[in-house]
Amino acid sequence: MTTALETASAQNAAASPSAISAWPDVDTLYPRFAELVNQPMRPIRPSAMADVMGYFEQRCQASRRLAEQAKAVIPGGVQHNLSFNYPFALAFSTADGAHLRDVDGNRYIDFLQAGGPTLLGSNYAPVRQKVHELIDECGPVTGLLHEYEVKLAELVCRHMPAVEMLRLLGSGTEAVMGAVRLARTYTGHKWIIKVGGAYHGWSDQLVYGMRLPKTGRMEATGIPGGATAYTQECLPNDLDELRRKLRWNRLRGGTAAVLVEPLGPESGTRPVHRDYNAQVRRLCDEFGALLVFDEVVTGFRVGLGGAQAFFGVRPDITVLGKCLTGGYPMAGAIGGRREVMMSLVGGLGTTSRRAFVGGTLSANPLSCVAGYHAIVEMERTQAAQKAGRAGDRLRAGLDEIIQRRRLPYVTYNMGSIVHLQTSGVLLMDTSSLWKLFRAKDEAKRRKHMMEEMGAAYTAHGLITLAGSRIYTSLADTDDVIDDALNRFDDVFALV
Ligand SMILES: Cc1ncc(COP(=O)(O)O)c(C=O)c1O
Repeated sequence: MTTALETASAQNAAASPSAISAWPDVDTLYPRFAELVNQPMRPIRPSAMADVMGYFEQRCQASRRLAEQAKAVIPGGVQHNLSFNYPFALAFSTADGAHLRDVDGNRYIDFLQAGGPTLLGSNYAPVRQKVHELIDECGPVTGLLHEYEVKLAELVCRHMPAVEMLRLLGSGTEAVMGAVRLARTYTGHKWIIKVGGAYHGWSDQLVYGMRLPKTGRMEATGIPGGATAYTQECLPNDLDELRRKLRWNRLRGGTAAVLVEPLGPESGTRPVHRDYNAQVRRLCDEFGALLVFDEVVTGFRVGLGGAQAFFGVRPDITVLGKCLTGGYPMAGAIGGRREVMMSLVGGLGTTSRRAFVGGTLSANPLSCVAGYHAIVEMERTQAAQKAGRAGDRLRAGLDEIIQRRRLPYVTYNMGSIVHLQTSGVLLMDTSSLWKLFRAKDEAKRRKHMMEEMGAAYTAHGLITLAGSRIYTSLADTDDVIDDALNRFDDVFALV
């Protein structure tokens, strides 16, 4: 029987080519990851690294001064998890399409794209214009219903058939927290299971097994044990382990939700097998758990139907963020089946048993107008598909350079999400306590190499996400990508 979702996916597919042109060959990638992390690192040569540092000394003095000032009033000198601070944080003054300019006037190709949200490219004028108009009319917030709240929800529901209703919140972190509460309210079950290495924001319950699988509470500083007492993690792609946990949980309170990043942990850093999500769906049905797709990154970046359209899997709850408001503030939402979503009914006078979520600035008109027009523009321009083709071109070019220079690095992409593993720090084997213990020092060295690679890219005019991930956008024309490839080639010549 064809489900409504499959019909809708088929219609979307007919209307536009997928933003992911080919799913990576996961069976060949994992042995290559193992090969990368089991051999000595191939960093930038020390003499060449001195030249890289010279760039920051000679060309980035205004940034350096601001970074020093920042250290006095901002812990660590940077506010954002993704801010690069090696050798010091650069400060940026203009962003336009595919390019950024720092306060010293240096120009860069922007492959961070704010960590994902600006699929249309930075500071996209047609959306900015609509935001200006709204601010002139009603300012950013009233705390009351606004037309754009409804328009945005309708638009998301139209593109994601599994989202029948939408509740807007302030961030991806908040939305994941709300989704967990909602799943527990609806199922009456206790446990939540995530995939090791996945990032679902920084809430108490989900700072667990972050970045590297099986690291449990390693990063849970300041979080009491009780907060993660009902959180579990499974190894990526390990369906047997997931089944064992679901079975065991059935005897002691049941599993409320299985949370997945549908491409694999850390936006597909460890990619899943193509049928993994469908198998997780089956297991959730068998054990009465809700399937939560965290589409904070994938929502609209891999297509307007999200990863759920690509995989043809219907989650019970979808978490959105980032692209939802086109790069404007307050990006977070929970979507899902009407019956489930009704446990989130808000407003004064609500008497039904409900999961409490909210926020003073949630669903403000500014975020909603930006989100609505950003998604309309994504639709009109086929932004996800075009950014995806840019990602394909970049990955193919990087592959050619890596092979020509006989480097052990690994690159792969899912449309506009391009992974470039040079140090392999996020791919280390931590699947047992002994392996984790053994990996600790090596991880420090590999992390430092990643910082050096990131600094070298920056010195060559390329801003990446933490030196190992690249987000392309609608603004990445063939010329931008070819320019970037020449710059990457110059960096790899320093190894
Ligand atoms: C998959 C995923 N979920 C949740 C979050 C948290 O979203 P936010 O940073 O908006 O709180 C992120 C952020 O990067 C993410 O990548």
